Amino acid sequence: MSNIIKQSENLSLLGFGNMGQAIVKGLLRKNIFLPSQIYIFDPADEKQQDAMKLGIQVLRNPDELLKKAHTLLIAVKPQMIQSALVPLSSVINKDNLIISIVAGISIRYIKDLLKNMELRIVRTMPNTPALVGEGITALSYSRECTEQDKSFAHQIFQSVGKTVVVPEEQIDIVTAVSGSGPAYFFYLCECMIDAGKSLGLSEETAMALVRQTFYGSGTLLMSGDDLPEILRARVTSKGGTTESALKTMEARNMKSIVIEAIQSAYHRAQELGK
Ligand SMILES: NC(=O)c1ccc[n+]([C@@H]2O[C@H](COP(=O)([O-])OP(=O)(O)OC[C@H]3O[C@@H](n4cnc5c(N)ncnc54)[C@H](OP(=O)(O)O)[C@@H]3O)[C@@H](O)[C@H]2O)c1
Repeated sequence: MSNIIKQSENLSLLGFGNMGQAIVKGLLRKNIFLPSQIYIFDPADEKQQDAMKLGIQVLRNPDELLKKAHTLLIAVKPQMIQSALVPLSSVINKDNLIISIVAGISIRYIKDLLKNMELRIVRTMPNTPALVGEGITALSYSRECTEQDKSFAHQIFQSVGKTVVVPEEQIDIVTAVSGSGPAYFFYLCECMIDAGKSLGLSEETAMALVRQTFYGSGTLLMSGDDLPEILRARVTSKGGTTESALKTMEARNMKSIVIEAIQSAYHRAQELGK
């Protein structure tokens, strides 16, 4: 209970989908808020049921969110932000702290939408491992944010993993690297499972090998200060099997394909924000 932010401090969420739920579950797991301190508005029945199962409060109108809490976490899809936020423009002011996880949507865009240039806004980019408390979230702040706002926002995202602070102009890069990053990782898993199957393994065995290999390699990477290239070199003996695989990857320019793919995600994030 000692972690609970303040008995009087509540949190409201606009949108309670995958990411909103991941964050709330982290906050409840770490005892940062009690269920009675969290309010949501989401038009989807199924999401309202999810909220009720967690014991958190479901509101019937979005403008009630600001009556219940000073902090509003925006967790709708980018294409919904306009229709979701505009009805709130008359009830949001600089006494509120707005935290957005919406990809591609700038602090300036939110201020324009709400017709208030003095709003305290934290723009963030989490990722889906937040669902298991192992996300990484980048945060950037509007100049109006106080030190207390910053530490409050950190505490929220540290409940679902780690945090870094970046200037807002780098958030689209973060989106391309770690926001979309889990999908690249899963894609590599799929490729390795297919390769194992093509050589004769059952799906079940290939999956077991790949899952544990990634889990173990990730743990190894996190367990010390060695760079990935050092860890890679340790698995790669001259003339051996790993070297043969890596030479094939290099011959096909795998590194430039990955760099190009991530650059393309970055350009897409920039387009979405226009
Ligand atoms: N998932 C990720 O990997 C990831 C990573 C980083 C950031 N994000 C960001 O997180 C945000 C949410 O993503 P998500 O994956 O959680 O999406 P999601 O599962 O689709 O959740 C969004 C929820 O908002 C609801 N909604 C729609 N209109 C609304 C309104 N006017 N007011 C309140 N709620 C409304 C949706 O209901 P309906 O389903 O009925 O439309 C849905 O339940 C996105 O902006 C995304 O860019 C996601």
